[in-house]
Amino acid sequence: VRWLKPDDDVVDLLAPYTSVSRHGRGPRPHVLANMVGGLDGTAAISGRVGALSDPTDARLFRELRSVADVVLVGAETVRRERYGPVRLDDALRAQRTAVGRAPVPRLAVVTRSLQLDWSVPLFADADPAAAPIIVTCADADPARLADAEQHADVVVAGASSVDVGRALGELHALGASVVLCEGGPRLLGELVAADLLDELCLSIAPVMGGDPLPVAIVPGGGDLARFRLAHALVEESTLFLRYEHVR
Ligand SMILES: NC(=O)c1ccc[n+]([C@@H]2O[C@H](COP(=O)([O-])OP(=O)(O)OC[C@H]3O[C@@H](n4cnc5c(N)ncnc54)[C@H](OP(=O)(O)O)[C@@H]3O)[C@@H](O)[C@H]2O)c1
Repeated sequence: VRWLKPDDDVVDLLAPYTSVSRHGRGPRPHVLANMVGGLDGTAAISGRVGALSDPTDARLFRELRSVADVVLVGAETVRRERYGPVRLDDALRAQRTAVGRAPVPRLAVVTRSLQLDWSVPLFADADPAAAPIIVTCADADPARLADAEQHADVVVAGASSVDVGRALGELHALGASVVLCEGGPRLLGELVAADLLDELCLSIAPVMGGDPLPVAIVPGGGDLARFRLAHALVEESTLFLRYEHVR
């Protein structure tokens, strides 16, 4: 047991996250997730992340996207959080293009229902270099599927529901080496259950009493996924933790 002693100030918030080497694992990308939870593990307050995320966490949320080729998110989070297109500032865009990456990552939405509003900026105003992706399954409604194809690149991975392992394989085939999952808890839980989560960035906000929704809803009965703490940053009463999956 040891104290987490205050060390040097973190000058660049993103540096502890970008200095990590992320190699894909064979035919799939490296998968990291970024989530924020309260002290009781809650992942939302009245259905939104809202007050769980302080300005520093919100900045980390925006800037951590720069490490990814694809941002993967569940449809319910897109609907509730009114997701927009991924935006990065000029400096982060330039860093990416300098090493041959697209200026911003593509956003991939996992959905069976395909009940999404195609007129919202996420689809209508996406960066031309980063067209959105819909990840769905073969049993999806054909009319809705045809509609989706007008507004996004569609990946079909699985029969009656999306097989997250196959979905990651398809994203890898599209050129993604690093996939950042931004939740929600249901999608994240599926990745954990399939042993596909390599890294978790978890901010702990100093609040209790939000929705009874944990940061990950992992279908029970499987093995425990184990992690090692890779870094812990603190600002006032919020912790910024980064864990790596131990295999
Ligand atoms: N604290 C945080 O960091 C954080 C992060 C993200 C979200 N949130 C909160 O989490 C809540 C939403 O999360 P959630 O867990 O309810 O939902 P979610 O994981 O965002 O989305 C679930 C939806 O994704 C689609 N989906 C997921 N797995 C699928 C599969 N295997 N096959 C086909 N479709 C699949 C389905 O969409 P369809 O219904 O379209 O078929 C499903 O209803 C919101 O309150 C949000 O504010 C918190």
